[in-house]
This record gives sequence, structure tokens and C-alpha cells, in this order.
Amino acid sequence: MTITPELKMVDVEEETEAINIAVIGCGYWGINYVRLLSELPETEVVAVCDLSDDRLQEVERRFPGSELFNHIDDLLKLEDLDAAVVCTNPESHFEITSRLLKAGVHVLVEKPMTTTAEDSRKLIELAEEYDVKLMVGHIFLFNSGINMMKFYIDKGDVGQIYYLHSRRTNLGPIRRDVNAIWDLAPHDVAIFNYLLDSSPEWVSAVGTKLLLNDREDAGFIVLGYPDNVLGHIHVSWADPNKERQLVLVGSDQRIAFDDLNLQDKLRVFEKGVTASANEPASYGEYQLSIRNGDIISPQITFSEPLKNQTRHFLEVIRDKVSPRTDGWNGLDVVKVMEAIDASLASNGAPVSIS
Ligand SMILES: NC(=O)c1ccc[n+]([C@@H]2O[C@H](COP(=O)([O-])OP(=O)(O)OC[C@H]3O[C@@H](n4cnc5c(N)ncnc54)[C@H](O)[C@@H]3O)[C@@H](O)[C@H]2O)c1
Repeated sequence: MTITPELKMVDVEEETEAINIAVIGCGYWGINYVRLLSELPETEVVAVCDLSDDRLQEVERRFPGSELFNHIDDLLKLEDLDAAVVCTNPESHFEITSRLLKAGVHVLVEKPMTTTAEDSRKLIELAEEYDVKLMVGHIFLFNSGINMMKFYIDKGDVGQIYYLHSRRTNLGPIRRDVNAIWDLAPHDVAIFNYLLDSSPEWVSAVGTKLLLNDREDAGFIVLGYPDNVLGHIHVSWADPNKERQLVLVGSDQRIAFDDLNLQDKLRVFEKGVTASANEPASYGEYQLSIRNGDIISPQITFSEPLKNQTRHFLEVIRDKVSPRTDGWNGLDVVKVMEAIDASLASNGAPVSIS
């Protein structure tokens, strides 16, 4: 079986005007947007903005032709700017995104949308007020492996979902703005919310500061979803073993996603166990029904998730459709991150999420 993300691509044959786009923040990640947007015929990267001259010089060397700015104030003087990607450090997302929205510019802002739920709500309101699109860069929702997992769940093959767990570890890159939990866990929270079509009701989180800095370098998070489904996330940037794994266990299937495995990104174990709802034969002895089947590695057509996400943003602007990862998705993730902070501060005490 082959599946590609269900994204309607812009027909490049159509004679339409290019979308004038700016990229704000061209560090480790932002330069990938400049590369992708420069390759796509339906856009023109008219401007790049970064506080750092070194980063602007690097952009000019690799992708010449855009106007370069150090400050958003100067960039906002540009006429005919249609859209922008905000890929700066998370604590500046709110300020930069709100200024762009107020200027009538459509925005794709990287995860985490903002560092407080209040700010995320304000951005949603601004996008409505100024009638522009607001999308959040939750890249794994544009990953064919994760989309395939969702396909199996929606088909009903997994049965009752018991729990999910994910490991996102590596040695670095260590950030100086947010802790490892804010840096890495938004990916997993966004994936869990998407797969389960819901948001957690409570979280419990512990973390540890290992590298003599002020921030957690590793975290262990439990999320309580409706219907007693549990999620567990382990993130670390102080672990010599790089892992990008997510496992979903259901009554009929176990599905394992390994983003680093290019051969078998997804493996489906057609195995599971359920307890019979009938009265137990004797005290405490319920009948267990074990299902034992094949292990399948489905054929998946992969395409670069960042490219899928970027093209979806262009489709959102062109076709005036709602983003798959809109401000509400971004807000849901930030609410969980705030609750994680509260739980960390009380040594893992469960914190409810309204
Ligand atoms: N989706 C993913 O897989 C993924 C991967 C990495 C990073 N990210 C996200 O991308 C964002 C950027 O991360 P990064 O790793 O590139 O960080 P980075 O520190 O390498 O780059 C951030 C850049 O933003 C610039 N900047 C900061 N404030 C600015 C401002 N006010 N105006 C203009 N420029 C400003 C900095 O000079 C820097 O060059 C973060 O939100 C991060 O979470 C996402």
C-alpha cells in the first residue's frame, strides 16, 4: 500500500502571480525555508531578515537576490509583501508575528507558536481581525510516516488505543533560549494530538538540569488523554544516542515509527491483547484474548516534510482554505507546554489543562 500526504499541490502550470514572501530568522532552521521557497516557482523570496549580519551574508552567498534586513521595522516598509515565515527564537514569535498580521501579511510561524497560551490566543484574534492566514509549523503533521499511522488508526485497524510513547534524544543541538522540553516536546504533543484527535486533560512532568545551566536538558512527560489513553514523551539533548521514535500500542496492533530508519520508517505489528468483558471464571482471572499476526512494513512514498508543509502554506494563501495546522492547533500545544512547566515546578504533580 502506498500513501502520500493528502495535500493538494498548487498547479504550477497555472498562470498566477508569484507570492511575495519573506523569511524572518535565518539560523539553523530558517535557511531551509529560504532554500525551499527559492526552489518553488509559485513564490519569490523578496526579503530575508535576521539580527545577525553573519546569517544574512550566508543567505546572500547561497541564495542571492533577496533584500536583506536586520530589523522587522525596515522589512515592514516593503510594499506588496504577501506572506512571511517566522523562524526566530520562540520568545520573539509573538512580537514578530503580531506585527506581520497587523500589516496584513499571512504568517507561517515555527513551533512553538508562542511561549504563552495568552499570546497564542491573541495571535488567533489578530489573524481574524486582519483577515489573514495564520499557520503553525508542526512539521510532523506533514510527514508521510505519521500520516500513514493516522490512516491505520482511522481505518480502525489498531483497535482500542492503549498508549503512545516517543523518544526524541540526541547530543545537542543545545539551545540558549528555551529548555530541551520546549524545544523538542512540541513535536510529540502535536503528533499525539493529531493521532488521537484530542488534547490531553492533564500532564505530569519531571526534568533535570545536567549541563550547569538554568534549563532542563532532559524531560519525562506523561500526558492523560480522554478515554484513559496515556502518552509518554522522553526528550533530551544530552543523550549520545540519537532517537526519533514513536510507538502506538492498541488492542489489535502496535505501530512503530522511526524517523531515522530510511528502509522501515513504519512497522505494523498485527498483535495485541484484550481482556474479555465477560465475568471472570474465578476471582481476578479474566479471559485474555491474544491476537498474533504478521509484522508489516508498509510501502510509503516519502517527500520532504518541510516542503510539504511549505507548499501547504502556499495553498492556504492561494485557495483561501484553513491550514491543517492552524492557530488553534498551535494554541493546544502551547497550553500543554505551559502545564508541563507548572508540573515541573511542583516535581511532577499532575496539572489539569482546561
Ligand atoms: N520544525 C522543526 O523540525 C524545527 C527544527 C529546528 C528549529 N525549529 C524552530 O525554528 C525556530 C528557529 O530555530 P533555529 O534552530 O533556527 O534557531 P537559531 O538560533 O539557529 O536561529 C534563530 C535566528 O533568528 C534570528 N533572530 C532572533 N530574533 C530575531 C528578531 N527579533 N528579528 C530577526 N531575527 C531574529 C537569530 O539571529 C538567529 O539567526 C524555533 O522556533 C525552533 O523551535 C523547528
